[in-house]
Amino acid sequence: MPEHHQSVMFSESMCALNIKTDGIYIDATFGRGGHARGILNKLSKKGRLIAFDQDINAIEYANKSLADNRLTLVHSAFSEMLSIITKQGLIGRIDGILIDLGVSSPQLENAQRGFSFRVDGPLDMRMNQTTGISAAQWLRSANEEEIANVIYQFSNEKKSRHIANKIKKYQKNHVLETTLELANIVSKVIKKQKNKHPATRTFQAIRIFINQELKQLISALEQSKDILSKNGRLSVISFHSIEDRIVKRFIQKNSRQKPFPKGLPIIEHGIEKTYLKDLGKHLTSKAEISNNKRARSAILRVASKN
Ligand SMILES: C[S@@+](CC[C@H](N)C(=O)[O-])C[C@H]1O[C@@H](n2cnc3c(N)ncnc32)[C@H](O)[C@@H]1O
Repeated sequence: MPEHHQSVMFSESMCALNIKTDGIYIDATFGRGGHARGILNKLSKKGRLIAFDQDINAIEYANKSLADNRLTLVHSAFSEMLSIITKQGLIGRIDGILIDLGVSSPQLENAQRGFSFRVDGPLDMRMNQTTGISAAQWLRSANEEEIANVIYQFSNEKKSRHIANKIKKYQKNHVLETTLELANIVSKVIKKQKNKHPATRTFQAIRIFINQELKQLISALEQSKDILSKNGRLSVISFHSIEDRIVKRFIQKNSRQKPFPKGLPIIEHGIEKTYLKDLGKHLTSKAEISNNKRARSAILRVASKN
């Protein structure tokens, strides 16, 4: 099984975390541990890293390849961060959180996981193989309108209705079970584009829905406000505009100072306290993109807790 994942925006995200040698950090998306190793390398013996991944393969890989007593591994969705950090007595004590969204290369390249429209495998798409329903099961139980809505909402695919209609027609005579069956159905509706497989958007949308990726992200961002220490850093790498918009709006909303409405007692300067300071966004360098196509669409946004 392929085990390599080339970490995206590695040095930018290490800088963004502003790592203190004795600090406590969270890697919300361990993957194959590229970023996690970078963080551990900057920590002293007193530092700690708590790493999450909802994919059991990522956790098994970490257990085999990264023996380090400063590292705590958690097999869980990162939306459980607040409850796990609370149990550990670390609320308000985390110096930085890194969230590197999306799927890892080993997930994408393992046909059995069902994420890829290029290799044939069961149409699964679950990041956490131990819970939830597969994409194939969902496509069987959902009606045409539900499928069209998911495809449109999570990828802005203009032909979502047409694709959903073709899926349901196909299912009248076949059991839709594999990635290539779905990719072929979509390819009959969407014209071939230069650098993009016709099924790219549809696969992205169904994957986001199956893993509830946007809900997960929104929940983790909200939780970061309680988890982070003063001056603690929040760094999020996203890979498409829908995710990036969520991160951007969250940071803007929590770093914008609003004057108090008239009539309230005058409190220091009449300005509401903000949770975060917006430290801006970073795009991938040309050099990185030429080495790693996956980095093409990455955007890193950084904020610090006030
Ligand atoms: C892009 S990879 C991370 C790569 C990692 N930064 C590295 O350098 O190897 C994303 C990882 O996050 C995990 N993941 C995605 N969403 C998650 C969530 N809501 N909770 C926990 N893990 C998640 C995926 O299973 C995948 O292993």
